[in-house]
Amino acid sequence: MSKQRVSRRQFLNYTLTGVGGFMAAGMLMPMVRFAVDPVLEAGGGGEFHATKQKVDELTKVPQRVDFTYEQKDAWYTSDVTQTAWVYKDDKGEIVALSPVCKHLGCTVNWEGDKNHPNQFFCPCHMGLYEKNGKNVPGTPPTKPLDVYPFKVKGGFLHLGKPKPNNIV
Ligand code: FES
Repeated sequence: MSKQRVSRRQFLNYTLTGVGGFMAAGMLMPMVRFAVDPVLEAGGGGEFHATKQKVDELTKVPQRVDFTYEQKDAWYTSDVTQTAWVYKDDKGEIVALSPVCKHLGCTVNWEGDKNHPNQFFCPCHMGLYEKNGKNVPGTPPTKPLDVYPFKVKGGFLHLGKPKPNNIV
């Protein structure tokens, strides 16, 4: 049995290669994930989360729908709660709007101010939106509220990831 000694130079080479590889993997992983994530999402058609909202019970008046789902981020799992304002339009189509104000991200409320009936109101800087999410000119928000894609399963509303408003 031969005993091969590792020279100081070899030891340094192995160590630096190992540490360098570890650091490179740490830097590359987030970049790869960032690049691949939209592809995976497009292939899967996006993720939809169940709500307790029965579609039959929706009316023409926007109502607040809160829903919670489990989110896994690598080894970390947490419960995420989101909100949507949901109603049926004049044609009976479901509209689900994000409550996140497009100015600085506060939460808007339907008829949140008695001086502005039939509008969404943002209390942070007096932002206003029409029922379909269109921002009212002259108020701080510069874009319409995002809309949730939705599915109906077993009579219940399922909501996806909010997207730019395509109904105004
Ligand atoms: S955050 Fe809504 S108006 Fe400013």
